[in-house]
Amino acid sequence: MKDTLLNAMNRFKEQQHATHAPHRSNGSQAAAPPTVIYSRTRSVVISDEVLQRHRIQTGRESNQFSDAYKILRTQVIHRLRENNWNVLGITSPKEGEGKTLTSINLAIALAAEPTQTVLLVDADLRAPRLHEEFGLESSEGLTEFLLDDRTIENMLVSPGLGRLILLPGGRGTDHSSDVLTSPRMSALGKELKHRYASRVVIFDLPPVLGQADVLAFTPQLDALLLVVEEGKTTESELQQAMQILKGSVPILGTVLNKAGRDRLSLSKLKRANAGDVKQRG
Ligand SMILES: Nc1ncnc2c1ncn2[C@@H]1O[C@H](COP(=O)(O)OP(=O)(O)OP(=O)(O)O)[C@@H](O)[C@H]1O
Ligand SMILES: [Mg+2]
Repeated sequence: MKDTLLNAMNRFKEQQHATHAPHRSNGSQAAAPPTVIYSRTRSVVISDEVLQRHRIQTGRESNQFSDAYKILRTQVIHRLRENNWNVLGITSPKEGEGKTLTSINLAIALAAEPTQTVLLVDADLRAPRLHEEFGLESSEGLTEFLLDDRTIENMLVSPGLGRLILLPGGRGTDHSSDVLTSPRMSALGKELKHRYASRVVIFDLPPVLGQADVLAFTPQLDALLLVVEEGKTTESELQQAMQILKGSVPILGTVLNKAGRDRLSLSKLKRANAGDVKQRG
């Protein structure tokens, strides 16, 4: 299965290179950009126990799991810079394949760079759970900003991990794809992209299959990172995801998550699909 999945990943990559189309096209109906003020960001202290229990890598660890995120960081930052991109979405074909953990650990690894600020946004609005990974209570977030006309600045959280700032998802909504394509979301997307061009914005997204959210959200993104889980994501699921995303947004790369230790080496994966990263389970 794994070799087939790798072949499918490679085909996906080739298709993306051949077909990605211009995006950010629905700006005509956008509202005036909301100004996001960062001085009101709330600082919280996350205990080591919470970080460890949720497999969050602070960068102080020295193990292969943590190292793989540093490799991923290097590859991502290189590709963002060479394309002048700063807004990245992270998704996968289906549920539970590691989107949120990849988003968090990549965001922390990027924010550990002395000059790099990172905003990590929970855009999985049907089931916002990013805050839980940091042991935080549910609080107002993107849903309240989009639906209740609230301002963003009081929602931002600094978890004390480098220059990382979190924007939680808030209470969530069953109408997430409508909300994510609203003029208010479009205006926020522009504000986040352009106000501080050196900041990387990472959106933790829902799965591609079974709901319209990711495709609907692609106009807000410069690129997508696609997580696949070894032994779980099937070739057919990857193909379906490819088909849905085709032509909508460039794919920065794929992350093979929960990869078996001895079955496939990182170098082999990199040879097969240059630049993509295998993340151990
Ligand atoms: N490489 C890994 N090794 C071990 N556990 C992992 C790895 N990646 C993710 N997990 C665990 O798998 C579970 C699902 O991961 P995560 O929440 O990141 O997936 P998701 O794709 O965001 O799920 P959802 O579709 O529900 O949003 C979590 O308990 C997470 O800690
Ligand atoms: Mg998730």
